[in-house]
Amino acid sequence: MKENTWAYIGGKQVKLVDAKVGIMTHALHYGTAVFEGIRGNWNNAHNKMYVFRLREHYERLIRGCSILRINLPYSVEEYCQITIELLKKNNFQEDVYIRPLAFKGAEMVANLKLHELEDEFALIILPFGSYIDNDKPIRCQTSSWRRPEDAIMPTGVKITGLYTTSILAKTEAVMAGYDEAILLNNDGTVSEGSGENLFMIKDGIISTPTETDNCLLGITRDSVIELAKKYFNKNVVQRRIHRSELYLADEIFLTGTAAHVTSVGELDNRKISDGKIGEFTKNLQKRYFDTVTGANSDYLNWCTKI
Ligand SMILES: Cc1ncc(COP(=O)(O)O)c(C=O)c1O
Repeated sequence: MKENTWAYIGGKQVKLVDAKVGIMTHALHYGTAVFEGIRGNWNNAHNKMYVFRLREHYERLIRGCSILRINLPYSVEEYCQITIELLKKNNFQEDVYIRPLAFKGAEMVANLKLHELEDEFALIILPFGSYIDNDKPIRCQTSSWRRPEDAIMPTGVKITGLYTTSILAKTEAVMAGYDEAILLNNDGTVSEGSGENLFMIKDGIISTPTETDNCLLGITRDSVIELAKKYFNKNVVQRRIHRSELYLADEIFLTGTAAHVTSVGELDNRKISDGKIGEFTKNLQKRYFDTVTGANSDYLNWCTKI
């Protein structure tokens, strides 16, 4: 990390090394925070960065805050502006990961009443290349961990405490020699990856789990549903998916801000079709990468140029 990297906390820009919280911070003890993961994609040809769907990420952050009773002082537009200013200050000329964090900043440990705890907002921006290698299909494992149900912890927004499950699942998968984990719901149907939504294709029909299958309502998921319609004339079917349907799929791919569009070539040591990146996934990846790097004039409204 560059020594002169800037972050935002306490209502102002500060050097990243000075952006600190105390050991008593509530969110550190109980996971009482909501975060976002946003990508700024560097376009070499344009010599510009394009931030993908900035507004939608802050809208989701605010939805999470309302569930966790975090009252933020600014509007979505103002948080977008704070982000743009911090990007300009840092002046990264490469892909970046933008991480807003709204949290219970009260230094009060023995208090479980959200409405009594004051709130804080922080923003950091880090250089961020690829999270998963998108050029080749990855190997996945069905996790022994289940995706929590919304009645246990809200699943449609990014509450930090919820990520313990994702982290246990990812760690288990990687330590067993796989690239990624697929989490099932408690009833054995498919939910999502540890940090990605899941799509499968069978006989030309694209399906993905529904909102009530406890998956995060991914912004990449939403973008892919739109791109599939616009460029491939395909309506994505949102429905419950059985575990064994995945073994018999023609193509499986994962979507997420960090993972982009990633082909799954193998699940639980079974090849998906011939194990190679499927035709649709390959074509979608091309459309998607053009779109997130500001090279698709149809969707420039999804990109904030820095
Ligand atoms: C658990 C989980 N599911 C899905 C996603 C994909 O969401 P998005 O496309 O908004 O990044 C993410 C990443 O944010 C995630 O953490």
